Amino acid sequence: MTPHVPVMAREALEYLAVREDGTYVDCTAGAGGHTALIAERLGPGGRVVAMDRDPGAVALARERLQGYSRATVVQGNYGDLASVVGALGIEKVDGVLIDAGLSSMQIDDAGRGFSFQQDGPLDMRMDPTQGRSAAEYLAAVDEVELERVLREYGDVPRARRLARAMIEQRNEREIRTTKDLVSVLVEACHTGGKIPDETRQVFQAIRIAVNGELDSLLKGVEAAVNALSQGGRLVCITFHSGEDRIVKNYFRDHSRPLRLMHADGRVKGSVPPKLRLLTKRPVTPSAEETRANSRAHSARLRAAERL
Ligand SMILES: C[S@@+](CC[C@H](N)C(=O)[O-])C[C@H]1O[C@@H](n2cnc3c(N)ncnc32)[C@H](O)[C@@H]1O
Repeated sequence: MTPHVPVMAREALEYLAVREDGTYVDCTAGAGGHTALIAERLGPGGRVVAMDRDPGAVALARERLQGYSRATVVQGNYGDLASVVGALGIEKVDGVLIDAGLSSMQIDDAGRGFSFQQDGPLDMRMDPTQGRSAAEYLAAVDEVELERVLREYGDVPRARRLARAMIEQRNEREIRTTKDLVSVLVEACHTGGKIPDETRQVFQAIRIAVNGELDSLLKGVEAAVNALSQGGRLVCITFHSGEDRIVKNYFRDHSRPLRLMHADGRVKGSVPPKLRLLTKRPVTPSAEETRANSRAHSARLRAAERL
């Protein structure tokens, strides 16, 4: 098993600028790494709520954070951040952290179906009690939509050919396991049995679709900004271009005044910006961290402060 080390922990903590008496939300508890670091900086009046949509991650984070009296772990999708923290009686928070994507525990567990390197059921749900599995998704999706998903969520170069191959295969026999899916790709790419380079991107794209990840991320960023008190900070760590684009665009659009126009094109007025950017460009992990933690290599961190 790959040991789970929180990605860009030093940078995340620096931008969150944790106050002893502040209230924080770690939207992606995972193994509780970032949450523990936040909790360690809190004094008696401080609090950190850690959430995760994966019930397995919640159980693990609860166990790992047992000794941290200022940390509470709850299950939930960060797209529903407002209702999750609202249920705990919290209205405003001083900082929110989103460390998107998958944890190494999820990838390493063959039974979850996230890894193309291990055979397992093609599930890929972060919360296995909700929605449909990747196998069910592939059994129902149409070819045009699958091609779009591969292109947009995975930057898959031969998206059309691979989408067609998957549809043809599933019309004959259900693609039930990770191995079944890899076999379709091997055959379609004529790699002579070798796992093609696109496999990682195909798995990523299908996982993003199955979990509605980009939709949750946009909702989560929006809810986080609305929950922040003045001076509160949002820190987002993302792992691929589709996720980073959502954060970048939201931060850009809300860090400048919003112009309100009349129907005839005249300017009616403007709404002041909600955010001040703390990172003009995405912050990337140090060479040292990338060497030590392979998960870190594609990480991008962006941070903003509520005005
Ligand atoms: C990269 S890991 C987080 C690792 C964590 N920061 C740590 O230090 O251990 C991402 C976690 O976010 C969770 N996750 C992904 N999307 C989510 C969402 N929309 N809502 C809540 N949790 C989510 C995953 O289940 C996974 O456990």
